[in-house]
Order: sequence, then structure tokens, then C-alpha cells
Amino acid sequence: MSILRGKNSPFCILRRFNNLKNFAHDSTKTSATSASATQAPSPGTFTISGKPSISVPQDTVKVTLQKPDMDVLVDTTTISRQMVAEQISKSIAFDNIPGPISLRIIHRIWGMVPILSTQITGGAIQYFLAVGSLLSWSGNMALFKRFFDHYGPVVRLHGPLGGDIVMVSRPEHIAAVFKNEGPYPIRSSLDSVEKYRLQHRKLRHTGPILMFGPEWENFRKSIEQPLPQLIARQYDKIDDACNKFIARIANIRNRQEEVPGTFQKEIYKWCLECMCLVTLDKKLGFLDPCGLSSTSDPGVLLDGLMKATKAIQRCEYGLHLWQFLPTPAWKSLVENCDAIDNVLSKYVHRIQVLIKEKKEASDGVSKEVNCLMENVLLKPGIMVEDAMTILLDMMLIGINATAHTIAFMLYHLAKNPRCQVKLYNEIARQPKKLSKDALAAMPYLQACIKETLRLKPPIPLLGRILNDDLSIYNYHIPRGTYLLMVTSLSSWREEYFEDAHKFMPERWLTPIDDMQLFASIPFGYGAKACLGKELAEMQIGALITKILRNFKIEYLYGDINSTNKLWAAPNKKLRFRFAERV
Ligand code: HEM
Repeated sequence: MSILRGKNSPFCILRRFNNLKNFAHDSTKTSATSASATQAPSPGTFTISGKPSISVPQDTVKVTLQKPDMDVLVDTTTISRQMVAEQISKSIAFDNIPGPISLRIIHRIWGMVPILSTQITGGAIQYFLAVGSLLSWSGNMALFKRFFDHYGPVVRLHGPLGGDIVMVSRPEHIAAVFKNEGPYPIRSSLDSVEKYRLQHRKLRHTGPILMFGPEWENFRKSIEQPLPQLIARQYDKIDDACNKFIARIANIRNRQEEVPGTFQKEIYKWCLECMCLVTLDKKLGFLDPCGLSSTSDPGVLLDGLMKATKAIQRCEYGLHLWQFLPTPAWKSLVENCDAIDNVLSKYVHRIQVLIKEKKEASDGVSKEVNCLMENVLLKPGIMVEDAMTILLDMMLIGINATAHTIAFMLYHLAKNPRCQVKLYNEIARQPKKLSKDALAAMPYLQACIKETLRLKPPIPLLGRILNDDLSIYNYHIPRGTYLLMVTSLSSWREEYFEDAHKFMPERWLTPIDDMQLFASIPFGYGAKACLGKELAEMQIGALITKILRNFKIEYLYGDINSTNKLWAAPNKKLRFRFAERV
């Protein structure tokens, strides 16, 4: 009986989901208030990018749609509120959205058992994906594709007692979701991390990935504003880490000039070294030529992060039994997140001391902010425990996504030698010493990064709890619904990308239309889009440039695909051959 009463009881889980739904309801009001507070627009003003747009008459809604690359405004549409309401009133009822019958039956059964959570449906999908071969589905995105092929572009998966999931994958439908989301989007994911932080650690916040509303906005600004300047300033240190990585490749190659199957771990180490430089201004020595001792700070951090990633994936897959019982995956999550926290808190504490010293120092001492954590800790309203959650979130999402992109880019360049030669020629024309801006101005390099992210997006699904009622493909989808955007499928659509499954960086060298941009959004979109885009692009560019200057990359084994995990990782060992350039 106790499981029915505790914080994790089904009723509490349902209450939590309802709280999110209520926030979804209220945030439309909040967004109008916050917009009017900053620019005093008319009550009809509505913005997509989070920045208030020009006021429009009271009965209209101003929708400003920003390109996913965040640079240019591309589409400005004024829709009257009446039109939106009319569109919804003419829409086909939510109950008529097609979906798999078996889940409807399961829904009826679930309706009778006391386990309620939207995530159970999500978990079921993940579970079916994981056991795909048993069900004669071929894994990866195949199940999602099957759903869309069978039921059409909008699919409803019935969850227990109404915690349904609606799935879309067409760029125009994804764009419609983002148009609707307002300044405080809600992403519901990683329940296990939320439980770890709120219940196990008793922290006051869940961290930027999971938060929403004005407090999340404050967290986000503490990273978003200083990051571009800081990463430009840290370029030389990142370049130094690249040199160490080149030395490491030379060191670990065998007589065929192939790196060992553990090469993904080496990329992981390099990403961690860069992350610690930018966030803590600390060279931790992950790339030490003598290797890492398992008890050293970098050793514990590396091991902890890899194991925590695995544990989170295991918790998020399948039925969430850890909500009720201390499963092995839950125990591993707690153990490893605690270990990471122990190491990182030492360095965050040093930064606190440094801030204090700077405050007390007489004039003439440099008050320049050196790293991201210093900036975060100086921000009003942010406590040390908040800074720790920001740091861990950046590591969890940033290290995994960046490391996997580097791995896949090396793979695609190895499999497409003509693209590799073209990129090498572009690199050879550059001066030896590069910078963040110089990398951004290399068109073929940027095209190769975009193409890798299109073919192998490290985060293949984006989720939102709708802030407002929405009409997609003429179906009415009520606010509070959990909407899953299968963005990886949209980026493989033939109507937007010719020979969509081929690695063709050239496609990004000519102007592309707006919907094509929406078809491939590896960094997400809108107010909750990726915070580390610039950092990731600079890191990937700096390392690939350095590798190609020194080596020719080859890969002589079977095709590498993405795993269907939370973070899409390479499904095979990265046995690249790095042949010395002469
Ligand atoms: C190739 C590398 C990367 C990719 C493909 C990537 C992709 C993404 C995606 C798809 C999202 C969700 C966006 C949405 O829901 O609309 C996201 C969020 C986020 N990313 Fe990245 N990311 C990368 C690297 C990084 C790095 C290096 C950092 C660290 C600075 C980082 C920090 C974050 C954070 C903190 C969020 C949550 C933002 C929020 O909810 O406000 N990412 N990322």
C-alpha cells in the first residue's frame, strides 16, 4: 500500500503531470504579461522567438517565426485570434486522431491498474524500439516510420487515463508546434534525473534541461549571454587540447595505423577537457599521454559521466519501475551522479573563493570573468547548487551530443573520400592559426557539420507539452498534450533533400528554402533550443580541422548507424585508420 501514498505514488505522478499541464495553461497568460512588462505591447501581441514583436490590434496574434539558425527572421504572419479559434473549431476532434489499436487496448487495461504516467507510453515506445528485433521491427527509427506510414502524418498513442502522446514528423507540422509554444516552452523528459535532484538530493531546481517558466529563463540567461565571448577567448586552450588529441591518436594507433575500438572514449575525453576549460577554466588532463588513473579527478569524472549516461538511459527506457523500487539502474544513476558532483563541487568551490578574492582585491587586480561558472555564480538568484545542476546538464547533453557528432563526421568523411579531399583542400588554404570566427567562415567545413547532423542527429526526438490548443493537419490537439516531434525522420525526407540518405555536404552550399531548414533542426528550436550550439560547432570544427591537417581518415569495416538510445550514439566500434599525411 505504501507505494500508493509516497511521493512516487501513481496519484503523485498524475498530480505532477497535471501541474505541468496547468503550467501549460497558465504560461500563455504569463507570456502575455511578461511581454507587456517589457515592451508594453497590446494584449494581442504574441512572440515565438521569446522576444516581444511589434504590437498588433487586440484581436490579432503576431507570429514571428525565426529560422532555426537563429540569425534571420524569415516569416511574419498575422493571424487573427478569431481565425485561430475558427481553425480549431473546424478541426477534427482529438479522439479521431489515428493510432495503433493495440495501444488502445493496453490503454484500457492500464486504466484499471494504478500506474499512471505519460512516460509509460513514451517508455513503451522506447521499449518496443529496444526489443525491436524480437517484434521483427528493425530498430532505430523504423518503428516511428512504420507508425507514420500506417496511420498518416499525425499519430496518437493512447496512454493510461489520458496521458496520450501525439507524434508528428513533417517539417510543416513541427514548425506549427514551435509557432505555438510561446516564451516558456515545456519539455517533459528525464524523469529519473528530476527524481534524483528533487527527491534524492533535495535540490530546489531540476536544472535547465527540465525547468520551465521564469526561473528557467534566469538560469538560461546566465549561460547564454556570456558563452559566445568566453568560448572565443578560450580558443587557444581548445586548440592546445586538439594538439594533445593528435598526439594521442599517434600514440594509440596499431601497426595498421588503426585506433583501438575504445576510440569513442578518447573523443569523450577530449570533449570533457574542452568543457572543463570553458566552464571551469581548468585543464584537468583527460588527455594525459600516460593515461588516466581511475581515482584521479578526471578519471572519476569520465567514468561517472559514462556510467551516469548509461544509467539514465536504462531508467528512461521501458516501464519506470525505479519510481517505486531502487532498481540497479536507479542505484547506478545515484552513485555516479553523486560521484560527479563530489569532483565538480571542489572546482566550483575554488571559483567561489576566486570571486571573493576578486571582490576584496584592491584596484588594479583583473576583474575579468574567466569561465562560465564564475559568470553563473555572479548572477543574482543563482545559488551554488543551481550552478552544479547547470554544469551537470551541460555535461550530460553537451559531451554526449558533441562526441557522437565528431565520431559520425569522421565516419562520413572516411566513407566519402571525395568530400574528405574537398574539406582538406579548404583547410590547407587556411593559415595555421585559426579562431572561432575563421572556422565559422569555412563554408565546406560548416556544410560537412550540418550534413553530419542532418544524417545522424544526436538527439533524434524533441518533446513538448503544448502550451495552447493547436490544429495540426486539421486535427484538434488540446493544450497539455505531450507532443513528440520525430525530427530525425523529417531530416531524411526525400521531398526536402534529394538522395536524402547520402552524405552530400554540397547541398548546404546553395540557398535552401525555409521548410528545408525546418526539416533539419539538430539543435532544436525556439526559446528552449540548444544553448551550446556555438560551442559545439567550434569544438567540432577545431578538432576535425586539426585531424585532417595531420591524417587521412579511413574506415574499412561494416556500416556504422545510430543506436536508438536517448542520445543517438554510433552502434559500432570506431576502428578508424589515421594514415599520416606526408
Ligand atoms: C552537436 C552538439 C549538440 C547538439 C546536436 C545538441 C542538441 C540539442 C537539442 C536538440 C536540444 C533540445 C532543443 C529543443 O528542445 O528545442 C538541446 C538542448 C540543450 N543543450 Fe545542446 N546540443 C549539442 C551540444 C551542446 C553543448 C556543447 C552544450 C553545453 C554548453 C549543450 C547544452 C544544452 C542545454 C543546457 C540544453 C537545454 C536548453 C534548455 O532547455 O533551455 N548542448 N541540445
